[in-house]
Amino acid sequence: MFPDRFSNLPAYAFPRLRALLDVHAAGGSVVHMTIGEPKHPFPSWVGEVLAENVAGYGVYPPNDGTPELRGAIADWIARRYGVRVDADTQVMPLNGTREGLYNAAMALCPEAKGGRAPLVLMPNPFYQVYAVATASVGAEPMFVPATAETGHLPDFGALPAEVLDRAALVYICSPANPQGAVADRAYWTSLLALAERHDFRILADECYSEIYRGEAPVGALQVAQETGADPERVVIFHSLSKRSNLPGLRSGFVAGGPESLRRIRQLRAYSGAPLPLPIQRVSERLWADEAHVEENRALYLEKFQIADRIFGNVPGYLPPRAGFFLWLPVEDGEAAALKLWQETGVRVLPGAYLSRETDAGNPGKGYIRVALVAPKHETEQGLTRIRDCLYGQ
Ligand SMILES: Cc1ncc(COP(=O)(O)O)c(C=O)c1O
Repeated sequence: MFPDRFSNLPAYAFPRLRALLDVHAAGGSVVHMTIGEPKHPFPSWVGEVLAENVAGYGVYPPNDGTPELRGAIADWIARRYGVRVDADTQVMPLNGTREGLYNAAMALCPEAKGGRAPLVLMPNPFYQVYAVATASVGAEPMFVPATAETGHLPDFGALPAEVLDRAALVYICSPANPQGAVADRAYWTSLLALAERHDFRILADECYSEIYRGEAPVGALQVAQETGADPERVVIFHSLSKRSNLPGLRSGFVAGGPESLRRIRQLRAYSGAPLPLPIQRVSERLWADEAHVEENRALYLEKFQIADRIFGNVPGYLPPRAGFFLWLPVEDGEAAALKLWQETGVRVLPGAYLSRETDAGNPGKGYIRVALVAPKHETEQGLTRIRDCLYGQ
């Protein structure tokens, strides 16, 4: 026998994309703009720090993270958000945010709320682990549209009170993948108030927080502190994958209220895989250094500017505020991705692969997601081909 709860998961986006495109020949030199894998260089000293600490592979690493790493993370939160969290009780290193986003549901989602299976609310489109975590804890997912009409962030406040009363967890991604929208103070303030009124917890996926233009995005924990919200209402997730161009390092953290973190830590002590010690050591150095993050941001800014220049006249083009994706409006995302591949060799992801079909339709259907991770020249070439092929300009 096998469990049913994962049986109706759609195939993951990338196998679906391969099935769509790879039966056809590329219509030009191939430009990959599908996967959000950072390609800018990571700091040159990373290798040296790993080598200096290689003996650490000979020991079981501390599950909760070294005090030095937790301290470096707490200091980063203080510098970035002006929030002083307790490094011992409010911070926990993760093997990247994905596992943390998954395991947080295990640690924090109650079995029932109001006598029924709880709801887990999430944006639609969304990062797919939110839905799998929901299925794993036997909760019911509710996909809340994040569309042009809602400013590309989910309007949780528009849901009926009885739905909100059933919600136990709310996943929210800001800066948002794929749209690049950023939740502002007002958004967080009203979401925190909603969480208090309807007694749910916010899982804030902020892994794109350091890739932005203009002002740095405010954070959920920051607004919680500013508004005097209960710190147990919100848990934040951050990563070195995007900030430091180290998706292969598998290093991030979760921070939030002491009771939420105690529960996450306890579960992880039984079932989690702690970060190898050399990775903890280098992570500590990375969180303490902003110079490489600023350089990285400047590289993305150049690409944002190229995108604005190329798509500025395309109706519905949304200049991304943050993150590294373009969320481009098209008539049909799958048809557009196929046409692009066959006519130009550019690979992009149909928006529908990142979102779910609901009674209100599939909010990703009329979009393609384009990752701005390739070198500048290649990105410019790819974007120009997209514009010429799909928008005829
Ligand atoms: C929205 C979002 N959340 C979380 C992750 C996971 O990142 P990591 O596990 O590398 O920190 C990604 C990665 O692409 C993402 O796009």
